[in-house]
Amino acid sequence: MPEPMRLQKYLAQCGIASRRAAEELIALGRVTVNGKVICTAGEKIIPGRDMVTVDGKPVRSAEKPVYIMLNKPRGYVTTVRDEQGRKTVMDLLPAELGRIYPVGRLDFDTEGLLLLTNDGNFTHRLTHPSHEISKTYLVKILGLPSPEALKALRTGVMLEGRKTHPAEVLVKHREIGSAVLVITIHEGRNRQVRKMCAAVGHKVVFLRRIAEGSVRLGDLPIGAWRHLTADEVTGLGGNPHADN
Ligand code: URA
Repeated sequence: MPEPMRLQKYLAQCGIASRRAAEELIALGRVTVNGKVICTAGEKIIPGRDMVTVDGKPVRSAEKPVYIMLNKPRGYVTTVRDEQGRKTVMDLLPAELGRIYPVGRLDFDTEGLLLLTNDGNFTHRLTHPSHEISKTYLVKILGLPSPEALKALRTGVMLEGRKTHPAEVLVKHREIGSAVLVITIHEGRNRQVRKMCAAVGHKVVFLRRIAEGSVRLGDLPIGAWRHLTADEVTGLGGNPHADN
């Protein structure tokens, strides 16, 4: 698993400058990590996860970019390691894919589309609050939602003192005592869909992410993965000269 690396070493490895010259760039305040200026050499980053810029330009890792999607099953954590020893999404991927990281998170009990990449710029862009891409979920809730509940989900509900952004909400079908909704949100707050539904009185009993931006999960089997196509990578703002 990837280890944190000193910023100046990373810059040198990416061919930006010698280590010593990289230390100077850092001291001059010309280097940012995840949007923050870093002035002290010795700061550690995780290549492929953190976005590094020099003079405002993203630094590209020397590694070939890899972008994949996984259909995450329930019962897996979306981290590279788990302190409680639970299964992680990395257990579902072959080692040949190298050092890749999840783009954002899905809860332990959520299944569906999870993107993974070694391109830290891509991850940063997709998860940064200023340009979060849309995410679409298939959601089974207990109870039948009233028109008021649907309106509240669409216009925004208060979660931890902050209103959620407008969301698209479709009722896919109603059953006896439950309903299946398709909800598209444009932000990525912790357990957001579950909390939004709880805020209008409905418990979520099944949650699957089915799309991120223009990329759809389609019929990829649970637990399976595939490379994104060049078009899918471009559609999400990644490097079109990907790994396939
Ligand atoms: N919203 C949730 O509540 N859980 C997820 O895993 C994703 C979105």
